[in-house]
Amino acid sequence: MRRTRLLLFVRLCVIAFVACGSAHASPSKAGIASAHPLATEAGLEILREGGNAFDASIAVAAALGVVEPNSSGLSGGGFWLLHRASDNFETMVDAREVAPGAATRDMFLDKNGDPVAGLSTNSALAAGIPGEPAAFAYLAQRYGRLPLAQSLQPAIRLAEQGFPLYPRLRAVIQYRREILLESEAARNFLVKGAVPELGAIIKQPELAKTLRMLAKDGVDAFYHGSFAARMVKGVRSQGGIWSSEDLANYKVLERKPLYGEYRGARIVSAPPPSSGGIALINALNILSGYDLNAVDGVTRKHLIVEAMRRVHRDRAQYLGDPDFVTIPIEQLLHPYYAAGERTSIRLDKATPSSALPGIVTGPVGPQTTHFSILDAEGNRVAATATVNFGFGSARMIPHTGMFLNNEMDDFSIKPGVPNGFHLVGADANAIAPGKRMLSSMTPTFVETDRGLMLIGSPGGSYIIGMVLLGTLDWLDGHDAAHVVALPRYHHQYLPDQISYEKGALTDEEKTGLESRGHKLVELRSTYGNMQVVTLDKTTGEVQAASDPRGAGAGMVY
Ligand code: DON
Repeated sequence: MRRTRLLLFVRLCVIAFVACGSAHASPSKAGIASAHPLATEAGLEILREGGNAFDASIAVAAALGVVEPNSSGLSGGGFWLLHRASDNFETMVDAREVAPGAATRDMFLDKNGDPVAGLSTNSALAAGIPGEPAAFAYLAQRYGRLPLAQSLQPAIRLAEQGFPLYPRLRAVIQYRREILLESEAARNFLVKGAVPELGAIIKQPELAKTLRMLAKDGVDAFYHGSFAARMVKGVRSQGGIWSSEDLANYKVLERKPLYGEYRGARIVSAPPPSSGGIALINALNILSGYDLNAVDGVTRKHLIVEAMRRVHRDRAQYLGDPDFVTIPIEQLLHPYYAAGERTSIRLDKATPSSALPGIVTGPVGPQTTHFSILDAEGNRVAATATVNFGFGSARMIPHTGMFLNNEMDDFSIKPGVPNGFHLVGADANAIAPGKRMLSSMTPTFVETDRGLMLIGSPGGSYIIGMVLLGTLDWLDGHDAAHVVALPRYHHQYLPDQISYEKGALTDEEKTGLESRGHKLVELRSTYGNMQVVTLDKTTGEVQAASDPRGAGAGMVY
């Protein structure tokens, strides 16, 4: 009898907790998902020390720059999408790299106007002016609770004491070995020129020193004075064009996120210079004209692909740095615009990309990282950071421990010429001094009355489609682990094909899509490394899930 009463009491308490969870919709627990367990732990360490999600986002990003240097780092940039719980303020910290002042529109073309192979990806000319250190300082000062130096501690420790080499990183070292051999990088990432064994401890003393300087002397010590001069000299000695003014002039910018609505869910996503928010919201607007759960599997995928095709065409035509080009954002996000795009979608037939309006140009004139953080107060961060391809240009800036990014390849180096992700672009994304190159990084919040999801992924041109599929999957009622594991398919307007991971399409779907005129290409490998945190507002449950394709970890604290 007494036991029954106790059980009843416990049950009542649980119900009270659930009700309370739903009334306040705040988590009580924190969740972090990132591409490496040591980076996730770095974030938890900072939360335990009294930091908020914004402090933790510095710790996670800085740690990722150490343990996943092929994906992001101090020499790169990224977008931090933030939500502050105390007043529901939302913003995006834009720490995208910018083109150096001496950059020119045709800098990657030869005298015949043809692209020079490898120049925008593997040379020192490929590097934009870094944004990540400025983002760290800005986040700490504006939104964090702890000093920058404290949030950088875990990364400093990891760079000094080292971490064990894991398969994913080893594979990129193998892939980039030839270029790594040419610079100081060989000291830390190769052993007598050979790729180290799995488990070998990777230490980066020069990077530790740079991080220490940032911690002790602040961000000005990075962008000004002797350290900046050393970077400029190091870049120029390898054929680059950075100047001291470029570094001194670098500024992070705050940008208003983009908002959309899909079947009652609130979508908050990245504005330009990311193409992600516009493409994601427009795709959802197009899809809102159908009931995806009422149609068969082939039709569902056909419609999603047709939406992807159209938003990637618009990306190529209209998008670039909003401080340099006028983007018809209101038009692109308007439901009428999506309704117009829907009229050209046939249920029984793929629209050839060549049948869509071409990209009009004026006169001739795998590697990135995402993490999601929700703290117990309800502050949110979805951030995607990058140096572009594996180890960026894979060249090191001497004595800094930093690889040069190769973000300049995200510009359209010539109208219609595909970049490293086979993306084409037009004048809107042409190179100009001080301009930010267009990005596909799509850090996003999706929120309903019942729950919240923080989502994002690396994957170059595939990112937007991944976030779209993840959003639809979560809104269909699946949990964080399902969202990150979901097999993926993709269409980006050009090339005119559906690329898909093994297992993403059933035999029936393949036949069905082919008979509607889609060209299918099965990818040899998987893509993406999605990191998702969810909150169930009715139970207060927090889930943090890391893509099983990667080596990351989601942890709840
Ligand atoms: O900003 C962008 O769109 C690219 N630099 C992202 C690169 C990327 O995701 C590489 N991933 N495998």
